[in-house]
Amino acid sequence: MSIKAVVFDAYGTLYDIQSVADVTEEAFPGYGEIITQVWRIKQLEYTWLRSLMGHYADFAAVTRDSLAYTLRILGLSDEPAAFDGIIQKYLHLDLYGDALATLSAMQDRRLAILSNGSPEMLNALVKNSGLDRLLQATISVDASKVFKPAPAAYALIESTLHVSPADVLFVSSNPWDACGAKAFGLNVAWIERVTGEAMALACVESTVLPPLTLFKAIRTQMDELGFAPDHRIRSLSELPGLLSQH
Ligand code: LAC
Repeated sequence: MSIKAVVFDAYGTLYDIQSVADVTEEAFPGYGEIITQVWRIKQLEYTWLRSLMGHYADFAAVTRDSLAYTLRILGLSDEPAAFDGIIQKYLHLDLYGDALATLSAMQDRRLAILSNGSPEMLNALVKNSGLDRLLQATISVDASKVFKPAPAAYALIESTLHVSPADVLFVSSNPWDACGAKAFGLNVAWIERVTGEAMALACVESTVLPPLTLFKAIRTQMDELGFAPDHRIRSLSELPGLLSQH
């Protein structure tokens, strides 16, 4: 493997989507966790449903629609001030603590994001977090009008960076995304932030599963899709060491 470009998923990989929990809790005290988890579960579900239906709407629309769904089913008000206050956080998500140092340590490779996010959302997020100084490109699936894990979305890496899939390391903590990238033919490093052992323990310890535990059970464990990632790491900070072998 001769890796020329390292391409990152954005939401959940470089940026902590759980960091919306403060604003959801502030807007609707007592509901922060359930809003945060249902919202993200529905957001991704809508990307896949719209892709299968052949009715693409960009990630900004999907993110709003899934928040509207979440507030409606919980019987909460969708008055504009609270709604927009929550949505704005998507432009100011927290970076994982090791993201800046990891990207700084890999400046000898071409670094990019490939994300479901709309160009406006991603450009604002990358700028607000200071990653614009460390990335060569921020690629939105919007150019393909279909969401990951559709092959056309991953194909944007080659058409934008002019690096063949065999020379790309794709990094994601989202299991479905790691499988999709592997099925497409990219080299893949999956970040296992919640180990299988920790997951099993969390399930055993609670009789009623809190929303976050349910989210972790659905969206952080490797899927049974028949596509194993090439590398399994625990954090972004392991990447420079991994690349030094390639
Ligand atoms: C991304 C989300 C879906 O593409 O994780 O950044």
